[in-house]
Amino acid sequence: MLINKFVMPEVIFGNGSILQVGESCLRLGAKKVLIVTDSGVIHAGWLDHVVEGCKKAGLKYATYFDITENPKDYEVDKGANIYKENECDAVIGIGGGSAIDAAKAIAILVSNGGPIHHYEGVDQIEFPLPPLIMVPTTAGSGSEVSQFSIIVDSEKKKKMTIVSKSLVPDIAIVDPQTLTTKSQRLTASTGLDVLTHAIEAFVSIAATPLTDVQAKNAISLVASYLRPSVASRLNTEAKEKMAMASLQAGLAFSNAILGAVHAMSHAIGGRFPLLHGDVNACLLPHVMEFNFLAAPKKYIEMALLLDENVDHLSPIEAGRKAIDHVKKLSIDIGAPQRLTEMGLTEESISDMSQIAIKDACIITNPRDITVEEVEELFRQAL
Ligand SMILES: [Fe+2]
Repeated sequence: MLINKFVMPEVIFGNGSILQVGESCLRLGAKKVLIVTDSGVIHAGWLDHVVEGCKKAGLKYATYFDITENPKDYEVDKGANIYKENECDAVIGIGGGSAIDAAKAIAILVSNGGPIHHYEGVDQIEFPLPPLIMVPTTAGSGSEVSQFSIIVDSEKKKKMTIVSKSLVPDIAIVDPQTLTTKSQRLTASTGLDVLTHAIEAFVSIAATPLTDVQAKNAISLVASYLRPSVASRLNTEAKEKMAMASLQAGLAFSNAILGAVHAMSHAIGGRFPLLHGDVNACLLPHVMEFNFLAAPKKYIEMALLLDENVDHLSPIEAGRKAIDHVKKLSIDIGAPQRLTEMGLTEESISDMSQIAIKDACIITNPRDITVEEVEELFRQAL
């Protein structure tokens, strides 16, 4: 058996847990924190909760909120300068994956120097990062527990995947209440990202028993609670379950890594300002079809976790039920079904395939894949 590791932060989970952010920073020795967020989080009122928590704990703070969807290298540079100018000693990230990934990247720069491009790939970070406390407000990226940060190289127009155990936050504070301010559209998109994380981690060549248990529970929770979570902002049970699904999918993919869906969606996300979950939703069924050959038994397990009845079916028919379910779920919650709906054309496929085949996530895809096969998958999803 190969040696494997499972890394994760301290996790504080539950309604109202956001107010524990100040005490959490104190335990890590912080005196002045940089809070990294975006305007949507401020508008929804969640930054106020974090500020209140910091004030209660007697912490000083500075805020940086110029983070956009698919965070850019220059936004990270600016955040690092604010950290240094304010002599901060810890970083809080609050928001979706963009704010949290940016917060992690800022932490890399303040302790290791720039530019952020130096750290693309696996294990390129040399020096320890300042304390990291992450508060997700979507379900979600899983970035609050993961060893990933995805930052756009604005010149090359591509997403850089930075993978390092140094990026695993110290504390993740998961407060399901924060999900109640998200639109139906964003709940659907981020929920399908959760499902993609769980499925890609489950069939990854780096999956272990420790990651499988997380991935399987996440798949099952998404099957039961994504629809009701999209249907109502006030369904607190669905919000709690989706927050847990996001957390568990995050733990699974942080340790088992991902696959071709994320390699391809990173290639798209570097060029086009699209919702990451929407892009994944278009790609996932096609990549699942492609990968079926590599993990047929796991597809049967997935079909069962997705509440499909596989009685009297052949193993192949039973496995295919998982793919059918994913397609149906995506349609039911109104996600885009084709990349052309988001403005993508045949023209960019060749370049994007060249980028996707070099993405760190392609390494753990369960089926060997060539650049020509990546091109074909893009074509199928158009
Ligand atoms: Fe993702």
